[in-house]
Amino acid sequence: MDVIHLSAECYPVAKVGGLGDVVGALPKYLRSAGINASVVLPYYDRKFVQENEFYEIYSSVATAGGKTFEYKVLKEKTGKLGFDLYLIYIHGLLDRKEIYSYPDEIKQFISYQVSFLDWINQSEKKPDIIHCHDHHTGLVPFLMSHSGLYRDLAMIPTVCTIHNGQYQGWLGWDKVAYLPPVDLDKAGLLDWNNCINSLAASVKCCWSFTTVSPTYLEELSINSNGLEKLFEMEKGKGTGIINGIDTGVWNPENDPMVFQNYTAETVDEGKKENKKRLCEQFGLDETKPLVAFIGRLVGEKGAELLPELIDSCLKSYAGKMSFIILGSGEAEVETELQKTALKHKKHCGLYIGYDEELSHRIYAGADFLIMPSRVEPCGLNQLYAVRYGTMPVVHKTGGLSDTVIDLSDPGGYGITFDKLETGEMVKAIGRALETYAGSNQMASFRKKMMALDFSWDRSAKEYINLYKRLIKLHAI
Ligand code: ADP
Ligand code: GLC
Repeated sequence: MDVIHLSAECYPVAKVGGLGDVVGALPKYLRSAGINASVVLPYYDRKFVQENEFYEIYSSVATAGGKTFEYKVLKEKTGKLGFDLYLIYIHGLLDRKEIYSYPDEIKQFISYQVSFLDWINQSEKKPDIIHCHDHHTGLVPFLMSHSGLYRDLAMIPTVCTIHNGQYQGWLGWDKVAYLPPVDLDKAGLLDWNNCINSLAASVKCCWSFTTVSPTYLEELSINSNGLEKLFEMEKGKGTGIINGIDTGVWNPENDPMVFQNYTAETVDEGKKENKKRLCEQFGLDETKPLVAFIGRLVGEKGAELLPELIDSCLKSYAGKMSFIILGSGEAEVETELQKTALKHKKHCGLYIGYDEELSHRIYAGADFLIMPSRVEPCGLNQLYAVRYGTMPVVHKTGGLSDTVIDLSDPGGYGITFDKLETGEMVKAIGRALETYAGSNQMASFRKKMMALDFSWDRSAKEYINLYKRLIKLHAI
């Protein structure tokens, strides 16, 4: 079975968040389960691309926005990622450093989708499944069915995975000319609230859609930035499949990024050394329990709640703990966090920016990871945390509800809170401190967390079952 994944991100080529992790890992696991999975990304002028060899396998011209452009398809030479990686290169458009936030982002991703379709349409061997991730690839299912240019692709089953329903790829109808010629009587499939909405079009036109956790599938009908009715109507073709983690990349036993490797047997000594080095770097007291936050500094992650939380905890618990924050995002949140870190110099370490190595060191060195997310479709941070024996303290929402069991429940290993209020969170941190104080307890929870299996093996099987079901439908 040949499955092509389309995405804006794929670790280690291009990653901003969890989408990159998923698309860098799932195809690898699909491969080991016998599925010929590959990834087609836009070309980025980034480290991985600069340092690895690619060769051209195809080039042609396509049209988007009334403009004809040349595109090239490049293939990574060695297959070292565990799957075939293809990049679509367009001079001046798909040859940039950053992944998002260009003023002509719409053109960037439409050209990527159109070039991909043009290439596959002309290639002799068609894939069995096209798997699209998030809104950047959301026009593909519509164009496959409703553009005369791609009639040969109309019967290939499509899967669309929603990692984040907040961002939808909106486009005014005045920009319809950016698209290739489409069946105008089907234009309604592109529309949501008088706008072209790439995510909505994808949900309407794909054969099946998935969300990255079962709870998030339910939540989308209640809160999805305007698409609630659509998700309610289309629920029948949706499945919630929880993300896994790449246990090859995220493994405290041999992770080259951490200060000292450790196993479940040596977790206490291992974490102690990692914490010591991390605390040295940030000027924190290594003898105090360390609570970390890693993530995008945006409302979805509840990042703006951190300054008040840190103030309140340090007051309520008389400074008997430290915080460490790694993230970047909204300027206001960054500024507030900088003020907090200055105010509590001895208790709060802060790094504003993106640093993959530091993130691994924090998972390894911290005692707790706080996730005050408002919306969390799955969340990978809590899964990495448990893999490194770090206890997650999470708001009970989305994928966090599906993956973290509270200490007070059978099989529990984390701390959950129901309401996103400072008081509730301070209490949750209080429970964390109590658990830490009973040091034997902490040691056994660490071992328990490290024995949990969140690898992709199980979830990859669920995707394979879905692909098989769709291929059967195709054959009817
Ligand atoms: P999201 O995709 O919504 O950002 P996830 O929990 O799915 O959230 O995944 C976030 C991923 O990005 C994790 O791999 C996390 O370690 C990483 N990450 C987030 N912010 C940073 C940062 N500032 N530096 C390094 N890694 C980060
Ligand atoms: C999104 C979500 C996050 C999820 C990730 C990977 O960015 O915000 O919860 O884990 O995608 O699916």
